[in-house]
This record gives sequence, C-alpha cells and structure tokens, in this order.
Amino acid sequence: MEREALTRHMEQIDRNMLQLQRDLITKNASEDYSGEIEPFTNYAHSGSAEDRTRGEQLIAEGKVGCLLIAGGQGTRLGYKGTKGTFPISDSGKTLFELCVDRVKAASEKAGRDLPLAVMTSPLNAKEIETFFAQHGNFGLSADQLFFYSQGMLPFLDEKGNLFLETKTKIAEGPDGNGSSLEHFVRSGIAEKWASRGIRYVNYVLIDNPLADPYDAELIGFHDKNSLEVTLKCIVKRDAGEKVGSLITRDGKIEVIEYSELPDDEKRALNSNGSLKHCCANISLFCFSMDFINSIGNGEIVLPLHKAFKATKQLDAQKDVMAWKFEKFIFDVLRYANPERVKALLYPREQCFAPLKNLHGNDSVETVREALRKAGIK
Ligand code: UTP
Repeated sequence: MEREALTRHMEQIDRNMLQLQRDLITKNASEDYSGEIEPFTNYAHSGSAEDRTRGEQLIAEGKVGCLLIAGGQGTRLGYKGTKGTFPISDSGKTLFELCVDRVKAASEKAGRDLPLAVMTSPLNAKEIETFFAQHGNFGLSADQLFFYSQGMLPFLDEKGNLFLETKTKIAEGPDGNGSSLEHFVRSGIAEKWASRGIRYVNYVLIDNPLADPYDAELIGFHDKNSLEVTLKCIVKRDAGEKVGSLITRDGKIEVIEYSELPDDEKRALNSNGSLKHCCANISLFCFSMDFINSIGNGEIVLPLHKAFKATKQLDAQKDVMAWKFEKFIFDVLRYANPERVKALLYPREQCFAPLKNLHGNDSVETVREALRKAGIK
C-alpha cells in the first residue's frame, strides 16, 4: 500500500518542471534577467473621482470579479491555522472575514452579488473550505463563492535529489502565488466568469487586510486606459526601504527585489528630488480576463525562484535544509504588452498593511494599528 501511494506521487511529478528545478540549483541557471535597468515611469496617482465612478459602473454591470490569494504557508507568522483564519481586527474578525465584509459591502453598493474566488493550496484547501462552511460562508451566496487550488513542487536536496517527507510522500511545498492565474484558468472558473460577462479581475492577497477586493478606482483606471495589467502600488518611503521596485529592462516590465537594485539606482533622483524608482510593488493588481487567459493557456512557464529552507525529512530527528521552488505573480508582467501596463500609486495607509510576522515589522501589532487608523473594526 505504502509503495503504491509513493509510486502514485512519483507519477504526479512534472518531469519537465523537475529538470528546470535541477538546472536552477546545479547549473546555477540565473533566476534573473540581465540588461540595463530603467525606471518605470508609466504611473499615475490615485484620487480620480471620474475613474471611481467609471469602475463603480463596471462593477454594477457585473464585469468584475475578485481573486483572493490564500495558498501560502504563513511560516513566519507561526500561527497554528492557515493565515486567513487569524483573528486580526480589534473585534476579533479574521483576515477572511474582513475581506468578505468588503465584498459584501461592494455587492450592496453594486446591487448584485459580486464573485470571490479563493485560491488555496493542497495543504490548506480543506481547512479553508471547512472554515468558510462553518461560518455559513460569512453570508456569501453559493453562487458567489469559488475555491480552487494551486499546485505543489517537490523540494530538492543540495545535490538536486528528491527526498521523502513520509513513507508515502515526496517532500514538497506550494508552488508560489505566481501559479495563481494558471490554476484559475485550469480550474474552469475563469471560463465560467468570462461567460457571465466578467472582463476584469481584481487580485488581492489574504495577508493584507487593507487590500480592497473591489477597488472601483483601480478598475475604472484600468478600463479607461485599455490595460492588460494595472499594478496598485505605493510610493517608496525612501531609497533604503526594503521593497520590490517596478523597473523596465530590455523593454519589459519587471519587479526587481530590493537586494538586486544597484545602490546608485536605488538613490537616483528626478529633477524634482523624488526617487526615480518610486513604485513599490505590493502585489495588488487588476488584470484583464484576456490577459489572464493568455497566461493560463499552458504555453507560458513562469520562471522559478529558489530558497534554501528548513523542511521535514523522513527519519530525520529535526528539520533539514533543502531547496524550495516558487513562482512569483509579478513575473507575469514580462508577458504583458509593456504599453498596456500602468501603475496607480495609492497612499500607503489606504492599502498596505501586510501580516507576515508575530512581532516586529509587518506584524500583528502593526496591522492592528493600521486597521484602527483605517477605521476597520
Ligand atoms: P508570502 O510570500 O508572504 O508567503 O505570501 P506566506 O505563505 O504568506 O508567508 P511565509 O513566507 O511562509 O512566512 C504572499 C501572499 O501569497 C500567497 C500567500 O497566501 C499570501 O497571500 N501565497 C504564497 C500563495 O497563495 N501561495 C504560495 O505558494 C505562496
């Protein structure tokens, strides 16, 4: 029995992907592109009542849906449950409930039940679906709420070998939030939504309770400019803030990690004294359905990123170090028409309070404070 289960798991492993994973660690194949870095300048500042009205109209016409990305493991938070079930507001509401509250408020305003698709992972799908069911889906109708799961990728040891986590299972982890669009398409939900007339999808992360699942202004701005992707960004606080920046390289748009942006670029200023690389990525987006379908049609393989992490191994007394592989959502930008990508810059306190850690930066205390300031109970 054990052997059969293990054989089944072995058969499920994507050999092409496994080769890419091995190349990444053994041949040290670069995760990143090279080429000259240029500032991304195709941005505007939020605050347009006209765009908001336009977005409200589109939402009311049923042309918008929302993806809530919740497949992560929340390792740094160290919470016993999956992150979305963490009670974060002063009144004890969980991250899931806060997001659903906003979907319901937007639905009431729009005069229709707005859809929400929650991306889970094979590790937390059951927990999340049960959590929603136990809470009566927080008042969402069955027709409004969707779940789909991302995939998994095997871990590799230092030499590039697979290894066992249990007698029936190869060690593996969720394949990163970058797989969210591809699995959304594969699940069939994208097609169902498109047939309902949905043209735009707002993309929010579960660990940011200030993320607005139905940001009318973002949608109006996206539609007005006929974009494939709009990034909802914040202005970098200063050159030293450790956030990913939007850049242009070889005519493509990318998010570059803080550690990879050269120091002179980090500090580069415009003539008015503002930072040249000012757009900080916070992983909030509006995507056109056509663009989502182009990413999810099976032809595009997003690059893999690797991290050396502690993980469980069969018969090991304590966790061992191994390579984990993930795709990142911002890599989809490389496949967009650069002329049809813009950023909309928002005040930080309106849209960014990530819950990553129990204490310190981006922690329970900082998020609670941000929620209080935003008047969210
Ligand atoms: P993070 O990269 O911060 O990961 O996720 P995490 O799982 O929340 O926390 P750590 O790194 O283990 O401490 C950013 C967003 O991407 C989602 C998370 O749920 C969160 O909304 N995510 C991350 C996925 O949906 N799938 C993944 O495989 C990874």
